Amino acid sequence: MKKVIYYFTGTGNSMRAAKVIAARLGDTDLISMRCNPKDVSAIDADIVGFVFPVYHWTMPAPAVSFVENLDMNPKAYVFVIAMPSFICGIACEKTAEILAKKGISISYGNMVRSVANYVIVYPPFPFPKLRVLRTEKKLKRIAEDIKNGKNRPYPVAGRFIKHRRDRVMAPYLDLQKYADIPFTISEACISCGLCSKVCPCANIELKSGKPFFLHHCAQCMACVTSCPNRAIEYDITANDRKLLNTCSKRTPLVKIMGLPKRRKMYRNPYIKVQELTKERIKID
Ligand SMILES: Cc1cc2nc3c(=O)[nH]c(=O)nc-3n(C[C@H](O)[C@H](O)[C@H](O)COP(=O)(O)O)c2cc1C
Ligand code: SF4
Ligand code: SF4
Repeated sequence: MKKVIYYFTGTGNSMRAAKVIAARLGDTDLISMRCNPKDVSAIDADIVGFVFPVYHWTMPAPAVSFVENLDMNPKAYVFVIAMPSFICGIACEKTAEILAKKGISISYGNMVRSVANYVIVYPPFPFPKLRVLRTEKKLKRIAEDIKNGKNRPYPVAGRFIKHRRDRVMAPYLDLQKYADIPFTISEACISCGLCSKVCPCANIELKSGKPFFLHHCAQCMACVTSCPNRAIEYDITANDRKLLNTCSKRTPLVKIMGLPKRRKMYRNPYIKVQELTKERIKID
């Protein structure tokens, strides 16, 4: 029986979830939902999982295009696990909508609240150590459900979230539109290239040893949080000052907390930075 789990991750929460489920299933391929994937098909897989963070109450854009382009076995047992910090929104419904176009339905859906990782906007919260423990517990229950082939309806958004998403998320979506423009590289950069390797969007090239952003960033936070010397800053005043200042005024959390230069970083404690560079892993 062929089993494959596709994950998108910036700071490892979703990768950890994929690994916990894969370890319970055994003999499972884990494949990163990167941009421009090579030779990816799930046409002969009997169990297919999708695990991803929630961005702006929905699926991250790279995961959307990955699932849209994936060939799948219509008879597969399909599960979807969203990893929001708090609000899952329409993330699972979005996956269901894409799969429905392929004639596939979701057998099992769930969400696991995890540490909030949008470190350019706010420090990791709430109480990362405690949250990680709770997340682990729920992941183990979910892994057991999936191992037993359980069926469960996927989480759906309430009316308020569905109808207010565009308005509530507008300032954050504005920030995302200018995704990598405010990134600056400090003198601390040692040209190690790690930021380029962890980027799931192939958005960073090294030019003369220094990272250069290609403007198709998903704001996943992998580069910012993986840099060994904290050389990637998010300088809201450097470029696009007018736009980003307007944006920051309208973004409540940025307004309250600012964008500290020495912001706290976060990576799931079970995931090593080298694992974020992998495109696929086999779990026995
Ligand atoms: C750009 C961005 C947008 C986010 N939007 C949401 C959101 O709408 N709702 C939510 O609960 N968490 C949101 N988060 C938090 C992440 O979904 C959460 O921390 C997730 O577990 C990170 O997963 P990862 O470690 O696999 O990247 C957002 C994070 C980022 C970076
Ligand atoms: S990870 Fe940090 S130190 Fe390494 S190349 Fe990127 S910015 Fe420079
Ligand atoms: S440039 Fe950084 S934040 Fe943007 S997608 Fe790549 S790793 Fe994520």
